[in-house]
Amino acid sequence: MERLSNRQLTISKLFILLSLILLATGMVWGILGGLQYIIPGFLKGFFSFEKIRPLHVSSVVFWIILSSIGCIGSYIQEHTTKNLYSLLLFRIQFLIFFISILAILISYCFGIFGGREYWEFNPILALPIAIGWILFIINFIKSIGSLKKQPVYVWMWLTGIFFFLFTFLESYLWLFPYFKSNIITDMTIQWKSYGSMVGSWNMLIYGSSIFLMDKISGNKTYSHSRIAYLLYFTGLFNLMFNWGHHIYTLPTHGYVKHISYIVSMTELFILGRIILQWKNTLSSAKKNYHLPAYRFLIVADIWVFLNLLLAITMSVPAINIYTHGTHITVAHAMGTTIGINSFLLLALIVDIFQLNYRNDNTIKKSLSIGFWITNISLFIFWTSMIIAGILKAKWQMNITQIPFSSMMLQLKPIFIVIFVSGTIMSIGFLLIIFSLIKKQILSFKIN
Ligand code: HEM
Repeated sequence: MERLSNRQLTISKLFILLSLILLATGMVWGILGGLQYIIPGFLKGFFSFEKIRPLHVSSVVFWIILSSIGCIGSYIQEHTTKNLYSLLLFRIQFLIFFISILAILISYCFGIFGGREYWEFNPILALPIAIGWILFIINFIKSIGSLKKQPVYVWMWLTGIFFFLFTFLESYLWLFPYFKSNIITDMTIQWKSYGSMVGSWNMLIYGSSIFLMDKISGNKTYSHSRIAYLLYFTGLFNLMFNWGHHIYTLPTHGYVKHISYIVSMTELFILGRIILQWKNTLSSAKKNYHLPAYRFLIVADIWVFLNLLLAITMSVPAINIYTHGTHITVAHAMGTTIGINSFLLLALIVDIFQLNYRNDNTIKKSLSIGFWITNISLFIFWTSMIIAGILKAKWQMNITQIPFSSMMLQLKPIFIVIFVSGTIMSIGFLLIIFSLIKKQILSFKIN
């Protein structure tokens, strides 16, 4: 089995190490972007905001995707207690992703674009990503074998893997004149695909998190329970229809918006479930609190709660008209990708790198300091973005037309808070990343 020894540099760990590097560099781009809000024109000569933004967003999106692949690669082998169907395919997939991502980031640096928001690289580079993903699907299906009596996390992985490919391809339908010729159809498909794509990677991460929760609690009750399947189907339903809140401002059919609003409200169900679960876990929290992975899982739960409150508020059409195109959308995107996705992924990585139960005070201390720095500063970062968004929304709706530059000047103190808290948050993350990478590299050396 690929993951038996902590001292082996497995392909799953290579995926994870590369993803951690992308997270670290991605945050540097984020800090530079934040600085450009305060000092307009900063680094404009070579690294304008048009380049910095995609460099930041693509790096952090690939952090999420690659680490999810690495975690699933490792957990499938623990689940089946066998090697992956083909380690060679997994190796080829890694090489394809590595080369493509490098090409994407370099092309951004030279101002070569051609794609759409979030995937701004030349569409030709989407081809190897799709091919690499197909290899992943083949490896996954063959490694899992039968689907009979599988726990909920296997269904989540399966659903996430298929839907990711589907939505990724869908996000490129604009390349065909049939879709591109009608702007409303084009935009609807575009935003639908992005919304569902996030739902797909959530499935990958949530599946692995349930695997880890079972592992920490030492039994498989939760992953076979009825409520876990109910949660899975609600998540699936949301994945398929929740994207509607991305298109409220488009003049598309009313029923699309109404269904999506009702579906968005089903998130209330998950919210209720999470609060209940949170209450129930309080006593065991005390017992497991010293485990770094457990802390990251629990804190992600708090961020689920905060972000759901924001998402549900944003999903009310009358409010969405105001929040659209403001920093509230950015707060929603960063709040979920950092607070939920990144913290869950860090919990998984701590477990996969076998640091959870290890009696190593140095690493536990740096993980603990990093944990508190990231969470406190993220809260300030996230709240300031919402405040900036509310002020911009007020400006957008103001009948006395205040010039854009005056509005931006008024928001400057908030942008400074965003920049400072974002930088401190990055220091916290870097401490965690550095500890994780150092520990792995040292253990490879011993080997
Ligand atoms: C784990 C770390 C991070 C993740 C996962 C992350 C994720 C994201 C995502 C998904 C977006 C796109 C938002 C949208 O289009 O609505 C974004 C934009 C952005 N992020 Fe981050 N981010 C991270 C850290 C940071 C840090 C530390 C800063 C520093 C201040 C930062 C500054 C920015 C800026 C300036 C934008 C562009 C906002 C705009 O277009 O106006 N990010 N980030």
